Amino acid sequence: MPLLTRMVSVEDEKALQEASLLLQKGQVVAFPTETVYGLGANALDENAVRRIFKAKGRPADNPLIVHVATWQDVAPLVKEIPEKAMLLAQAFWPGPLTLIFKKQNIVPSVTTAGLDTVAVRIPAHQGAQALLRACGLPVAAPSANRSGGPSPTCAQDVWEDMRGRIPMILDGGRAKVGLESTVVDASGDKPVILRPGAVTAEMIRGIVGEIKVHEAVLRRLVEGETAVSPGMKHRHYAPQATVILVRGETQENMNKKICFLYDNLLQKGDKPVILATKENVLQFASRAHYVWGSAQNMDTLAHNLFFALRELDRKGFSHILCQEIGQAQLGLAVMNRLLRAANFTWMDSK
Ligand code: TXA
Ligand code: MG
Repeated sequence: MPLLTRMVSVEDEKALQEASLLLQKGQVVAFPTETVYGLGANALDENAVRRIFKAKGRPADNPLIVHVATWQDVAPLVKEIPEKAMLLAQAFWPGPLTLIFKKQNIVPSVTTAGLDTVAVRIPAHQGAQALLRACGLPVAAPSANRSGGPSPTCAQDVWEDMRGRIPMILDGGRAKVGLESTVVDASGDKPVILRPGAVTAEMIRGIVGEIKVHEAVLRRLVEGETAVSPGMKHRHYAPQATVILVRGETQENMNKKICFLYDNLLQKGDKPVILATKENVLQFASRAHYVWGSAQNMDTLAHNLFFALRELDRKGFSHILCQEIGQAQLGLAVMNRLLRAANFTWMDSK
């Protein structure tokens, strides 16, 4: 039977108390973080964690991130804190960074999908911090979307995906970053970025020197290749519409190709839309478009990507056309999500 879902402001003191009581009772609550909204439950309670998998429709082999309020809360969950992980945590926590550690036995294997490691993050969002402190629990939380879709960056997005599936959604407005946290395995000599995010490769290098960006960040895993981070192998971030990603040597070529594809789709009776930037929007004349930010300011693109994909789905577009962007800094995270949304396929414009 569907549950009655309530949506309340995270700043409402009473609602926060109710939410933390629900968490203590093993229920699932959606809450805002600075990256995207999370679908939280007591990370140490197997049954509570199973509820997350069920509400999300998530494959059981994809582990969850455990969220805690402070440093003191990390120690009981992990076997050791490697030196480089310590340096990164000191530099970027609280914030949009997730670190992988060897897990202690108190973390049940449902939470880590059978792995002997656990992903941990201290979020910076005030509402998330308040909830974690109020409930006094480590909270396992994947992004609060139905599995496979774009992550929710506002409470309304969570409502659309989770209504009837969970008892409560805490509303904290638009998520500041708009993309999920950077996931880093810093247990070896060279830390590895498993998923890029707002703590960029450049920022991480600035703290620990040489690092590796996992190859699966920008390409599909090939048959038989094992996923270091199980999330790599699952279809992800894809809206209902087909995303077509155009790359090319020059801006002019890419704009032309997008117009050409758009006109063809329209002629066939499809309903395409162009994901445009402030800089190239004028090239598309009267074609349907959505300006998702400025190519000069990656923060705006990251902030609006998932929001835009969901908005364009709501409007019923069949195809979303977008050009590649630079991979420096936050660009790497944006391209990683775009490529996955496009199922790792490109259209070349020559
Ligand atoms: O920003 C975020 O990280 C958001 C908010 C809610 O904190 N959460 C989030 O969770 O994006 P989720 O479940 O959608 O993504 C977690 C990613 C997945 O790709 C998963 O495979 C990976 O982290 N992961 C979790 N535990 C892992 C582990 N022990 N080893 C390697 N990868 C792990
Ligand atoms: Mg997710």
